Amino acid sequence: MNIAVRYYSRKGHTKAVADAIAKAAGVSAVSVDSAGADINEPVDFLFIGGALYAHRLDKHLKEYLSGIKGENVKKAAVFSTAAFSKHAVDLIKKGLAEKGIDVEEEFFYAKSMPSEAQLKDAEAFAEKFL
Ligand SMILES: Cc1cc2nc3c(=O)[nH]c(=O)nc-3n(C[C@H](O)[C@H](O)[C@H](O)COP(=O)(O)O)c2cc1C
Repeated sequence: MNIAVRYYSRKGHTKAVADAIAKAAGVSAVSVDSAGADINEPVDFLFIGGALYAHRLDKHLKEYLSGIKGENVKKAAVFSTAAFSKHAVDLIKKGLAEKGIDVEEEFFYAKSMPSEAQLKDAEAFAEKFL
């Protein structure tokens, strides 16, 4: 199974979740603004996450979602961190759905910086889809 993990994180909270998911999947988590983030070859499963800033996604993640090639992603699941809202999950799911990507209903969310226990939960979340 070909897995990709993509995220955008300003302060490292969402990156911590991305790294836990990537560890479970045996791949590296890649920030959407880094070279090599584009998915140019088909993947079976994409884990993609971000946080909420002033009720919105960061522009890097918004741009990434706009440019994603839906035909290269068979299925996806979303993760997010935010102080109090899960709205980023809805926004990311919407961006994926607009590209025709089949998105798992279940998502992973942590309140800002995930605890060690939550990082274990993030690994367990990923394992459900592997
Ligand atoms: C400028 C700014 C705006 C934020 N706005 C929101 C918000 O509207 N809703 C919310 O729940 N959290 C908000 N947060 C909290 C972040 O979403 C939260 O700390 C998140 O875990 C940051 O993830 P990151 O470290 O991956 O960037 C905001 C944080 C910052 C710095």
